[in-house]
Amino acid sequence: MIKTVKRLNELKKIIEEHNYSYYVLDNPIISDKEWDTLFRELQELEKNNPSLIDKNSPTQRVGAKPLKGFKTAAHRIPMLSLSNAMNEDELISFNERIKKLLETTHKIEYMAEPKLDGIGVELIYQDGILIRGLTRGDGFEGEDITQNVRTIKSLPLKLIGQRFPSLLEVRGEVFIKISDFDKLNETQIKKGLQVFANPRNAAAGSLRQLDPKITSSRPLSINCYEPGIIEGKNFKTHQEFLFYIKNLGLPVNNMIKKVSGVKNVIKYHNTLELKRNELNYEIDGTVFKLNNYIEREKAGSRSRSPRWAIAGKFKAQQVTTEIVSISVQVGRTGALTPVAKVKPVYVSGVTVTNITLHNQDEIERKDIRIGDSVLIERSGDVIPKIVKVVKRKNNKSPKYKIESSCPSCHEPSIKIEGDAVTRCINSNCPAQFKGKIQHFCSKLAMNIEGLGEKIIEQLIENKLIKKLDDIYSLKENEIAKLDRMGEKSAQNIIQSINLSKKTTFAKFIYALGIRNVGEHTAKTLEKYYNSNLENFINATEDQLIEIEEIGEIVAQSIIIFWKDESNVSTINNCIIKGVQLLKPKSNTSEHLNNTIFAFTGTLELMNRNDAKKKVENAGGLTKNSLTKKTTHLVAGQKTGSKVEKAKKMGIIILSENEFLELLNKN
Ligand code: IVH
Repeated sequence: MIKTVKRLNELKKIIEEHNYSYYVLDNPIISDKEWDTLFRELQELEKNNPSLIDKNSPTQRVGAKPLKGFKTAAHRIPMLSLSNAMNEDELISFNERIKKLLETTHKIEYMAEPKLDGIGVELIYQDGILIRGLTRGDGFEGEDITQNVRTIKSLPLKLIGQRFPSLLEVRGEVFIKISDFDKLNETQIKKGLQVFANPRNAAAGSLRQLDPKITSSRPLSINCYEPGIIEGKNFKTHQEFLFYIKNLGLPVNNMIKKVSGVKNVIKYHNTLELKRNELNYEIDGTVFKLNNYIEREKAGSRSRSPRWAIAGKFKAQQVTTEIVSISVQVGRTGALTPVAKVKPVYVSGVTVTNITLHNQDEIERKDIRIGDSVLIERSGDVIPKIVKVVKRKNNKSPKYKIESSCPSCHEPSIKIEGDAVTRCINSNCPAQFKGKIQHFCSKLAMNIEGLGEKIIEQLIENKLIKKLDDIYSLKENEIAKLDRMGEKSAQNIIQSINLSKKTTFAKFIYALGIRNVGEHTAKTLEKYYNSNLENFINATEDQLIEIEEIGEIVAQSIIIFWKDESNVSTINNCIIKGVQLLKPKSNTSEHLNNTIFAFTGTLELMNRNDAKKKVENAGGLTKNSLTKKTTHLVAGQKTGSKVEKAKKMGIIILSENEFLELLNKN
């Protein structure tokens, strides 16, 4: 037995070392065949000794059963996005901004990285063990995709080395290499399955599989690039951080380079753009990040993106198509937006059928007319836009002008000097009101399922909804009478209206549609006001500006919103009608609520104080001795009489490994 344990541990170690050489250092020491032989030996040994199987053995990447759905969990530090520099000038402006923020005229040092076109994730290692993987989600909360990230072969389940921080969070990008993508699509064809449109879609779809066996069959890769919380470590530079995680066995991209000064920033960007097609993975730009972490703090962050970094976008893909017609849409804020219907064309991964023309100024600047052949472009996740007109159908086609009245309420629309947008300012405009209700019911707001555009239209036409809070007075029989509605659907709608009443401060504030208050700002306000609505309503402009990330424009929009008494009364009515603003879920799980733990013997994987803290963080209590109320006893090595006593008392006895598993089971 001792010999088996020894060989088993030896094999695990050797395989992990080879995985590191292969995936992280890109420098395999043995052939694939030799690796297979070692892996099979380990599998065989484990098969014959199932009690010795450790959850983090290289053979155990697919351990879990299919899930019914993904749970969500909060990011301890929000996962921000990057703002973009669309061209050289914008990269130069970024560098100038940084110099100003840092109050220096010296050359700035950046880490230059490829911008990988994949899916951003967060990985959490506790005491060196991969315990969780989360998607970026909305930046505050992501989906728990732990069992899927465990299948990524290049990701260590256990970090390399002896000493690890008790908590290590890293962010990175999951992607599929182009050669792997081609093979994957070949397999899909052979199996008669649908092919994937591009590596990014394939990676996204694979990460969101409920069955980890399917994810495991997809050739996912990962590169790590940013820290989350890393307990007990203070890095001076990003370079130091990258070096540190690479040594722990985490894959880091090998094109990352330190660059100084704006000339080298641009050189890196242009060189990478030229090399783009030679790489075996898709990138859609470059990323420049301040190397010095103290400088990063000084530069600070906006609500969605850090000021200390920028994504340099590569030139977009361009195609030509034809403008079939132009119509005007009325938004919930009264903005009239001209939208062109175009002959469908495929450009960087999507089929484009509609393109926003933004406003009258834009139409005039580009002199866009119905029937024109236009050059359009789209890059990455950016909405498509018209670059220029390439050919006029005939000289007689008239110039396009947005009508001077609102297409919905037919009241005159106005365009204020200096404002690019034409607006309908009729506060009773049905299209605006419909937009407000649609926004209120939308998924990220109150999430009222079943109240779609057509039903909302009918509810407004039938005067069942005249103001926002009327949603909460709707009766089942009233809804059932609408076109294409039955009793069952009406019942479902009432049920989802009732369900929506339990919401959070942030979702409710976002749902109200205050101008310039998006989801992210609503969450910032939620944190600041600790979900206290009254304090928020009574805030002055100066107080609002005090809040980190809230600027003058947002503060003014909030003040204007509350000045309108009808908004305050709508909110009060919602609360009277049962809307409850619950505090958001915290990221500490409470899955050990109502448990009392005791410990005996020597723990080998952690010290007793840490073990106690972990129980307490998960909502449990700890006691030194056994009492009638004790629910669990964790037995380490060299235990005494406590175990026997606990057995008699019917207390659950856990080994240290079982204890760890239970802790991670939330
Ligand atoms: S850093 C606060 N580095 O791009 C900075 N992001 O548009 C957070 N991405 O959500 C990200 N390559 O998913 C960073 N080398 C890189 C990246 C990268 C790709 C993605 C990431 C992020 C998105 C931002």
